[in-house]
Amino acid sequence: MRRIRDFLAVTVTLVSAQVLHALPQTINQFRKHHGFKTEPQFTEKYFSQTIDHFNFNSMGNGTFSQRYLITDQYWEKGSGPIFFYTGNEGDIWEFALNSGFITELAAHQKALVIFAEHRYYGKSLPFGKDSFNIPQISLLTVEQALADYGVLITELRRQLAASHCPVIVFGGSYGGMLSVYMRLKYPNIVAGALAASAPILSTAGLGDSRQFFRDVTADFENVAPECRDAVRGAFHQLKELAEHQDYSRIQSEFTLCKPPSSAQDIHQLYGLLRNAFTLMAMLDYPYSTHFMGNMPANPVKVACETMLSGSDLLANLRKTAAIVYNATGVLTCFDLYNLYLECADPTGCGLGFDSQAWDYQACTEINLCYESNNVTDMFPPMAFTERDRELYCSKRWGVVPRPDWLQIQFWGDVLSTASNIIFSNGDLDPWANGGVRKSLSSSLIAVNITGGAHHLDLRGSDAADPASVIAARKTEADLIAQWVKMERSRLLSL
Ligand SMILES: *[C@@H]1O[C@H](CO)[C@@H](O)[C@H](O)[C@H]1NC(C)=O
Ligand SMILES: *[C@@H]1O[C@H](CO)[C@@H](O)[C@H](O)[C@H]1NC(C)=O
Ligand SMILES: *[C@@H]1O[C@H](CO)[C@@H](O)[C@H](O)[C@H]1NC(C)=O
Ligand SMILES: *[C@@H]1O[C@H](CO)[C@@H](O)[C@H](O)[C@H]1NC(C)=O
Repeated sequence: MRRIRDFLAVTVTLVSAQVLHALPQTINQFRKHHGFKTEPQFTEKYFSQTIDHFNFNSMGNGTFSQRYLITDQYWEKGSGPIFFYTGNEGDIWEFALNSGFITELAAHQKALVIFAEHRYYGKSLPFGKDSFNIPQISLLTVEQALADYGVLITELRRQLAASHCPVIVFGGSYGGMLSVYMRLKYPNIVAGALAASAPILSTAGLGDSRQFFRDVTADFENVAPECRDAVRGAFHQLKELAEHQDYSRIQSEFTLCKPPSSAQDIHQLYGLLRNAFTLMAMLDYPYSTHFMGNMPANPVKVACETMLSGSDLLANLRKTAAIVYNATGVLTCFDLYNLYLECADPTGCGLGFDSQAWDYQACTEINLCYESNNVTDMFPPMAFTERDRELYCSKRWGVVPRPDWLQIQFWGDVLSTASNIIFSNGDLDPWANGGVRKSLSSSLIAVNITGGAHHLDLRGSDAADPASVIAARKTEADLIAQWVKMERSRLLSL
């Protein structure tokens, strides 16, 4: 039988989180219906959090309700460690329900588990519905989010008489970046970090703008070079139709709700199609997961079978995109502007309020200037330069991005004086090469997961797990146990 976490395998990514605000209800219904043991039993709570940690007289003079999930069911009260998930760009339940490794490890190491929601996402909106207005949005920064976590951990430790309990932070993707930054910025509070699939280098501007879509392409090419060629060939045919402004043919080939009528619409179609490949590469798990409906096991392989299923390349491309967008089988046509939003993150911002918050972050501190070019990747040329980003961001949010800031603030690649951080990455994950792939010291450890997609290691164990992720989790568990032991003696000696 399908396991609960598979049912929930909505991803949790730098991108996506496209749907699923109503998900927790769905999950509970599903659990009830199937009589699952609900482990773990998280309690949802709210913390009165300072809105602006860095200014005593601003509009953020007050507090807001920050959501967090907590379970002490495994905890050795007063002495067991605290495993704290540094929430990223989405509803915190999505991360809690897709990070089974953390609770499995908590059961072994007798830890208290907390999943904290990132400000401006899910239900943690500092100004309610007005949070996405200018200037209310301005208190959405990485620094404020980290300060939230520092304050929350400190306060909960006090309330729970846990001052001698070592704190380990966990996160995947942007959440993994936050875990790294917590260890860099608050080593007084945090003893170590597991940063899974955290692209801390590329997002700090220390990358190659071609890397991301090149690595997406490599996933399909590694299944079969003909698969890559078929995708490129299909985009070539689409381009020819667009050049002849054969818009009604494009509409019928792709079952679009409305015929495209401009170069902008074609650009949007390219973006929507490219995004389907991006999601399948990121979510290339060995078991089926549910993201906007069903994502099959090994979606990249399924996509390649579809791309190579006959000589009609355009039909194959449509069917491949449908694996992502029509997984529920309920769409009668593809709505170009509803299924995909173009934003400051060319890998996708998802949909809904969370996508606005992520767009703002991609317009301010977090660099995501990735291009496709049809040479180092299989996609139509779609540039997204610093200049494009500036124009878009000043128009959308009235801000000028600061490409160097993250590198100045969070050390860039000059990390060797840090300690107790695991950088785990799966080689199928297009984010992997934006992160740290080589160990930098005896306590800055890079873990490679062969055959692993986006933070596979954070997911709960599954019968279909490759040996590499089982080994990675073992390494991670051992390092964390070691850090906890060291930190406990330090805390007791104070
Ligand atoms: C900050 O809060 C104080 C006390 O509630 C209030 O008197 C003051 O006007 C507030 N300042 C701003 C800038 O909102
Ligand atoms: C979505 O899937 C259903 C069921 O397979 C199919 O009947 C329908 O045509 C698909 N819609 C599109 C737009 O491809
Ligand atoms: C990609 O490059 C090939 C070879 O140069 C070209 O024929 C094709 O039209 C290009 N595809 C697109 C979508 O630009
Ligand atoms: C992990 O894999 C990358 C890419 O294949 C390689 O460059 C790196 O040295 C590997 N790191 C470790 C710790 O094995």
